[in-house]
Amino acid sequence: MQLSLKTILAILPFVASSTASTCTVTTSNLGDIATIKNDCTSIVINGVTVPAGETLDLTGLKQGTTVTFEGTTTFGYEEWTGPLISVSGSGITVTGSSGHVINGNGAKWWDGKGSNSGKTKPKFFSAHKVTGNSNIKNLNIKNTPVQGFSINNSENLVFDNINIDNSAGDTNSLGHNTDAFDISESDYITIQNSNVKNQDDCLAINSGTNIKFLSNSCSGGHGISIGSVGGRSDNTVNGVTATGNTITNSQNGLRIKTVSGATGIVENVTFKSNTISGISKYGIVIEGDYVNNGKTTGSLTTGVPITGLTVNGLTGSVDSSAQPVYVYVAGASNWNWSNVDITGGKVSQKCSGIPSGSGASC
Ligand SMILES: *[C@@H]1O[C@H](CO)[C@@H](O)[C@H](O)[C@H]1NC(C)=O
Ligand SMILES: *[C@@H]1O[C@H](CO)[C@@H](O)[C@H](O)[C@H]1NC(C)=O
Ligand SMILES: *[C@@H]1O[C@H](CO)[C@@H](O)[C@H](O)[C@H]1NC(C)=O
Repeated sequence: MQLSLKTILAILPFVASSTASTCTVTTSNLGDIATIKNDCTSIVINGVTVPAGETLDLTGLKQGTTVTFEGTTTFGYEEWTGPLISVSGSGITVTGSSGHVINGNGAKWWDGKGSNSGKTKPKFFSAHKVTGNSNIKNLNIKNTPVQGFSINNSENLVFDNINIDNSAGDTNSLGHNTDAFDISESDYITIQNSNVKNQDDCLAINSGTNIKFLSNSCSGGHGISIGSVGGRSDNTVNGVTATGNTITNSQNGLRIKTVSGATGIVENVTFKSNTISGISKYGIVIEGDYVNNGKTTGSLTTGVPITGLTVNGLTGSVDSSAQPVYVYVAGASNWNWSNVDITGGKVSQKCSGIPSGSGASC
């Protein structure tokens, strides 16, 4: 078939607007990103240096958009709260091509004080309002200034093969509060096959439902944590499964902390087949008298009960000065622990509140 020039001219604009042609964002056309998000459902972020004090704004992506990071993405230095990257949309995919790195340039901010004081540090990545079977996968991330992924108001979102290497922050303990994944007010979030080296929680769930944390490795930080729960706008954690994770060289293996005097609930939590080693504080710690910043009151309240807690298979070792298991709660019920086999450390003398017949012990 031969097409007349007239026919070709007539269909050209249609082809241009309807095919998912790839749009490439570089440092020089970063200012056009709003137009690019509107025009393209395949976006490549190619070697972009984001100016100081600005967010790489990938919010409001069109349904089904794929964003691919290529080369080195990095960020200028300024004291501000960030985030350095923000993403939202439905049915979206954020991925990275082989050899790419997203370098948060954290050392410029690291002062050992994290988000408590010192320099104001930008949060790294907001995944707020990411919905509708979205995927964030295959990302290589280095040196977040402070917290990594903030997941809030999202649902049906899978993180797969996310590699976060903040190990440079171990030098002189300068990296601090570098949580990898913080989840709140979200439903059906899965984080799997990921590798975290940091200085704070590998996972922290403040609130949320139907959360899975599967086959991840966590090193250098505070372990897998539910909490603190209580004192926020949403204080329900219901349905968490953490299976097949490895936690090494961390303060804790598994942790649940609920806030003293607050209200809320932690319900239906399963920790299955996780392994620990090089743990400096607790193999598993469940404490109901938390305040903030690692502080506890010693006074137990029942406003945030922990009900429905299965621990099936927690093996490995803790350091000689650590405690394998520490539980200090009130109002807990319906626990079922089996195959908890942790060597090393000192048995905690202060355990309290373990539901009878649960198989749990300190
Ligand atoms: C999550 O988003 C809600 C609604 O915008 C907000 O009220 C809440 O403070 C956020 N939670 C966290 C932990 O950031
Ligand atoms: C917790 O799990 C139990 C048992 O599977 C289920 O019956 C209950 O509905 C769950 N709780 C909530 C609030 O979904
Ligand atoms: C406790 O957990 C074990 C292992 O998951 C399971 O075989 C057993 O049925 C559970 N017991 C109760 C009472 O739910």
